[in-house]
Amino acid sequence: MTATPPASPKQLPPRRGILLAGGSNTRLYPVTFAVPKTLLPVYDKPILYYTIAMLMFADIREILVITAAGQSGMFKKLLGDGSNLGVAIDYIEQPEPKGIAQAMILGEKFLDGHRSALILGDNIYYGAQLAETIAKSSRIPEGAGIFAARTLNPEQFGIVELDEQHKIVSLVEKPTQPRSNLAITGFYLYDSQAPELAARLKPSGRGELEITDLNKAYHELGKLHATVLGRGTAWFDTGTADSLAEASEFVRAVQRGQGTMICCPEEIAWRKGWIDDRELESIAGRIKNTNYAAYLRSLPAGNRLVSVKA
Ligand code: DAU
Repeated sequence: MTATPPASPKQLPPRRGILLAGGSNTRLYPVTFAVPKTLLPVYDKPILYYTIAMLMFADIREILVITAAGQSGMFKKLLGDGSNLGVAIDYIEQPEPKGIAQAMILGEKFLDGHRSALILGDNIYYGAQLAETIAKSSRIPEGAGIFAARTLNPEQFGIVELDEQHKIVSLVEKPTQPRSNLAITGFYLYDSQAPELAARLKPSGRGELEITDLNKAYHELGKLHATVLGRGTAWFDTGTADSLAEASEFVRAVQRGQGTMICCPEEIAWRKGWIDDRELESIAGRIKNTNYAAYLRSLPAGNRLVSVKA
C-alpha cells in the first residue's frame, strides 16, 4: 500500500458515486448486441451488482448510473430508485461512448459540487481488506485517488509507474512499451474539481476523453494519490469472454468455499443498517426460490450461508 493521505475533516459532505455502464462492448459481440455487458451475469448476479457494491463499501448512498443511449430502462428495471438498497439511484444516458472521463462532465449536475467516486461498470474486486481500504481512501479530502493492481497484460490498461517511495512517476494509457506492470483499475476518487478538469481535456487519438488524461491533470497539480491493491485482492476487468468466465469461476469457488457471497448489495445494505430485516425478507421474496434468496434469509439468523446447493 502507498502512504494514505490524511483523513478528511468530519464536516465534508459524503461523496456521490458515478457508475459508468455504457460503452459499445464490442469485445463481447454477439453477446452484447442486445444486452449491456454490465447486466450479464458473473456467476449468480449481474456484473453491475459487484460495482454498485464497491460504491456502497465506500459509504456512498447517492449514485448516478450512466448507461448507453436507449438502455436506461433495462437498468431501472433491475435497480429501480435504489430505495430497497437504502440508496438513491439516478440515471442518465451517454449519447455516444466518447470516453470514460466524459462521465464527470455528464455527472456534473448530479455531483453538484460534491466529491465523487467513479466506478467502471465492468470492474470486479474482491479482497479481505478491500472494504476497509476503499472506505479509508475515500476519506481523502481533496485531490484524486487511483487503485492499481499488478497485471500480466500491461498493454491493455492504463499503467502507473511508481518510484521506490511509491510516488507516481508516470501514467500512460495502454502503453506499447510499459514501464511498469501496475494497471490502473476502474475505481477512481475525485474532488469537486473533476468536472471542470474533465471539460478541459482534448479527445485522444481514438476520439475519447481518456480517464488517464484526467488523472494526469490531477498528477500535474500534485494531487493524485495511488494505492496499490495488495496480493490478497483479486481484480477482474470483465472485458472479454475469457475474463468474464474467469471472474465467474472465481466467484463460484470463493462463495462455495466460504459460504458467504461476494459483493451482494442487499447484504451490504443490511449490514450497514440501511435496510432492516423486514426489507431484506421482502427482497428475498422477490428473488423467490433461489440460493440467493436463501442466503439473504439466513443473514438475520446467523449471518452465514445456510447451504449453497450445486
Ligand atoms: O478496466 C480498467 C481500464 O479501464 C483502465 O486501466 C484504463 O485506463 C481505462 O481506459 C479503461 O480501459 P478499457 O479499455 O477497459 O475501457 P473500455 O473502453 O473497455 O471501457 C470501460 C467501461 O466503461 C466499459 O464497461 C464501457 C464503459 N464505457 C466506456 C467508454 C469509453 C462507457 O460507459 N462509456 C464510454 O464512453
